Amino acid sequence: MVLDGKRILLVIAGGIAAYKCLELIRRLRERGAFVRCVMTRAAAEFVTPLSVAALSEDKVYGDLFSLTDEHEMGHIRLSREADLVVVAPATAHILARMAGGLADDLATTLLLATDKRVLVAPAMNVRMWEHAATAANVATLAARGILFVGPREGPMACGEFGPGRMAEPADILAAIEGTLADDGALAGLRALVTSGPTVEPIDPVRFIANRSSGRQGHAIAAALARRGAATTLVTGPTALADPPGVTVVRVETAREMLAAALAALPASVAVCSAAVADWRPAEAAAQKLKKNDAGKAPRIALAENPDILATLAGAGNRRPALVVGFAAETENVVENATAKRARKGCDWILANDVSPATGTFGGAVNTIHWITASGVEAWPRMSKEAVAERLAERIAAALAAKGGRP
Ligand code: C5P
Repeated sequence: MVLDGKRILLVIAGGIAAYKCLELIRRLRERGAFVRCVMTRAAAEFVTPLSVAALSEDKVYGDLFSLTDEHEMGHIRLSREADLVVVAPATAHILARMAGGLADDLATTLLLATDKRVLVAPAMNVRMWEHAATAANVATLAARGILFVGPREGPMACGEFGPGRMAEPADILAAIEGTLADDGALAGLRALVTSGPTVEPIDPVRFIANRSSGRQGHAIAAALARRGAATTLVTGPTALADPPGVTVVRVETAREMLAAALAALPASVAVCSAAVADWRPAEAAAQKLKKNDAGKAPRIALAENPDILATLAGAGNRRPALVVGFAAETENVVENATAKRARKGCDWILANDVSPATGTFGGAVNTIHWITASGVEAWPRMSKEAVAERLAERIAAALAAKGGRP
């Protein structure tokens, strides 16, 4: 049911497991999916484009420089007109090219150009899979949100035994169905996410801010939007690109962020991941403060900023059904975060250790304790994109249980 009418773009790379793709294509077609295939030059050494074309009931694409193909269907359109991109088998070579951002044939060019989710099924010799270079490439790709199915452990065509066998077509099919089912899990609902730092002016040229990159909040907005939620991202200044399919509202100060967040209601879920400045200069000087006589540094009086998370959690009948906050702590992470959950009146807190040694602030990875009314769950150290995916899954499940409406 999930696959009916869905468009799968299948990239077949050159590995012995390419023959299993024929079975995968057949099963996808049986379930009503449209399958468009792109083969690397090496893939055509393992399975014939003719078999792939016959089973997919479509033309097979292979050459970036074919003027006819580019005319009929440019590589950008090819990558965008899919609901999901699947790479199977994914060889060590194509994983390396993906990780490096190379675009030297049609397959890698569309993988670089796509704005869709990408699921890869690695297949290679066990030593190649375990090589530090492949491990680093896989980690890079996973951190970017690329999804993996397999590899499995077992006897290999090369005679060795271990992890590296491509997942069976049935497993790849299940992973595709799971990913696509997930995609619509928040359809029809509205989500609000705050992200980034706030910037509080001292005078027209100076400000108080913090080191938040916005990476976690932007990834959460992207993950919610991908699941079909109409998502508003209220963000302080960051260097990040707007996540696809998200309404982005740019603000500078905490007070602007609060106003924009309230304006985005009603929403079924609000996730406050912004690093809001706790204080702002009580009065921003209208003109640039001048250096006075030596030794006379100005004193800046501070005023407390509004708490956006607590305001949303206490918004009465406008309160989102699910209000989620973060707690950046440097010590007693779980205890402090548990107390914060109660104090702010939110449903969940994602607690993370931001002591400098962890590299969390501004970095790519996060270690989360997920704190709810029913207890604490420790998540393994993972990329901020992976945290966003897991959180979005939990949000979808919780809203489904609540009926989802604010
Ligand atoms: O109190 P503390 O800053 O540690 O709380 C962190 C959580 O509260 C985060 O979810 C953050 O986005 C939110 N917050 C807020 N407005 C503030 C301060 C924090 O929304 N003024």
